[in-house]
Amino acid sequence: EKFNIAIDGPAGAGKSTIARLVAGALGFVYVDTGAMYRAVTWKVQQEGLLPDQEQEVAALANRMQIELIPREEGQQVIVDGVDVTKEIRTTAITDHVSQIASYGAIRQLLVTLQKQMAISKGVVMDGRDIGTHVMPDAEIKVFLTASVKERAERRFKEMQNSGTCTLTLSELEQDIARRDQLDQDREISPLRRAHDAVLMDSTSMTIEEVVDEILGLCKD
Ligand code: C5P
Repeated sequence: EKFNIAIDGPAGAGKSTIARLVAGALGFVYVDTGAMYRAVTWKVQQEGLLPDQEQEVAALANRMQIELIPREEGQQVIVDGVDVTKEIRTTAITDHVSQIASYGAIRQLLVTLQKQMAISKGVVMDGRDIGTHVMPDAEIKVFLTASVKERAERRFKEMQNSGTCTLTLSELEQDIARRDQLDQDREISPLRRAHDAVLMDSTSMTIEEVVDEILGLCKD
């Protein structure tokens, strides 16, 4: 029997790793919605637009094509035929994505696409507004958090391992706190725990423990 799982939370809480593992364990499809906001931000930069040109950004988003392809190692992202999977993770994108994601026209467009992806059920979707706006009827909802310090440390280790370490630990901590603020304070669908979402603080939990706890919720 198929159902949907919504995983929301602040940047760096481990949502994508956990959502991917949960989807794998259940044979469900993993959808990373943050990648869609990042894809729009990439296209904006590609076209030489400034992030504050709201009208132009919205028009561009309406004519671009985003493809999300589920793969074993994660989700592949294709924008107008170009594989941007790696590029959308760079700081050049991360620095501007929350501003792009605050525009009503952008959210409306992407939320519509995300809702379509959830119709068939068997979807694990992660983001900021999945339990509140995209899949308010999801059978399982999780709000995943961790302390800012812990989240920054995890990002730091990740970057060290992939050899893409361009920021110091304290810069990462500042960046995470800044994005939390932008995501929580925006007017349209701000980052909030849905009233029926299970709160999980992963600060002192391993990835496996969080995954097991979510799989446990699925059995009830
Ligand atoms: O999850 P990730 O860190 O890749 O998301 C990048 C940014 O996209 C977030 O900081 C947030 O501003 C935005 N976002 C959003 N709503 C979502 C997913 C991401 O506003 N559902």
